[in-house]
Amino acid sequence: MSAVKKTTFVMAEEGVDPNIVPKKTLNNGEKMPAIGMGTFGSDRFGNIEIANAVIGAAEYGQRAFDCASVYGNEKEIGEALKVVMAGGVPRAELFITSKVWNDMHGDGQVIASCKKSLADLGLDYLDLFLVHWPFPNFHAKGVTVDSRDKNAKPYIHENFMKTWAQMEQLVEMGLVKSIGTSNMTIAKMKLLLRDCKIKPVANEMELHPHFQQPELFDFMIKNDIQPIGFCPIGSPTRPDRDKTATDTVDIEDPVVKKIAARLGVHPAVVCIKWAVQRGQIPIPFSVFENEYRSNLRCALPDYMRITDAEMAELASIDKQCRLIKGQVFLWRDDQEWTDLWDEDGVIAQ
Ligand SMILES: NC(=O)c1ccc[n+]([C@@H]2O[C@H](COP(=O)([O-])OP(=O)(O)OC[C@H]3O[C@@H](n4cnc5c(N)ncnc54)[C@H](OP(=O)(O)O)[C@@H]3O)[C@@H](O)[C@H]2O)c1
Repeated sequence: MSAVKKTTFVMAEEGVDPNIVPKKTLNNGEKMPAIGMGTFGSDRFGNIEIANAVIGAAEYGQRAFDCASVYGNEKEIGEALKVVMAGGVPRAELFITSKVWNDMHGDGQVIASCKKSLADLGLDYLDLFLVHWPFPNFHAKGVTVDSRDKNAKPYIHENFMKTWAQMEQLVEMGLVKSIGTSNMTIAKMKLLLRDCKIKPVANEMELHPHFQQPELFDFMIKNDIQPIGFCPIGSPTRPDRDKTATDTVDIEDPVVKKIAARLGVHPAVVCIKWAVQRGQIPIPFSVFENEYRSNLRCALPDYMRITDAEMAELASIDKQCRLIKGQVFLWRDDQEWTDLWDEDGVIAQ
């Protein structure tokens, strides 16, 4: 029996035609929809709720889903995708991303992880497979930010290239169409570009109005690597253990609220529309129908417009407020989380 409660698929009459959702052409010629949907429920939503939201969003026209083995829900999402495809959506119309987690970087493990994701998702290829973090450092689910893996290591380029070689092999094996990175920095990306056989098509990175990462964003665009923006709304409902006293809240920003009031939408929608107009591919998460529907509509050029003056105003509210700091991946006790992000251009050892 299916674990997914929703077993029927009916395209919503008032839904968005997936053919009119703009697509980005990646550096290998593959096309990716200009917006995707996140699937990380954290502590708040169960796997079945998320799987049902995948079906609901697909009924409304969403075709791109951002998955990862570490989210622990690929089996249920696989059941959802089965319902979607049985309902008439061709596989080729979907764009499914997954990621290899940090404890699977070793010899043969990247390929094993991809095969497991494929089996769980019920697919015979992925559209995009990402290295979730450039560190092989494990942390258990739900641990506090003070927790450390005693075997944690710094970024070691030689090791990362062994991981990347397996990513390249997956393309050659036909198991994935495109490969990319996540949580990379300019310093690390320069080394990867120097030594790779197959260039990453995308880098998934934190991007929202209070964390715009202009230098990294421009570097990716210049090198024809598509930025995919995670936490596009500033992850307002993330667990308390992932919040610090200095974190700011995008959807409470007066500029975001002013534009939302003009457009008559929730401030979250302004964050998504800003992302689309700036050129990253946002992957907002929501299990609520009204939210994932309005998020998808943001990809449509005819649905609302943030003016050039408002875009300039939004560019000026960057607070350089990184929310996903990655503390649990540090490898020494005397370190600051900033050591993960090569802010001075040097990879910390
Ligand atoms: N590569 C990585 O390392 C990485 C890291 C983090 C996240 N991600 C990916 O990025 C996705 C999104 O990140 P996220 O979930 O942390 O942050 P987010 O998308 O910025 O925020 C999600 C929250 O925003 C609210 N929301 C969504 N749409 C809304 C709307 N239209 N109106 C009002 N509120 C809305 C929802 O809150 P309520 O539920 O309270 O309504 C939802 O839980 C994840 O699911 C995951 O796929 C990747």
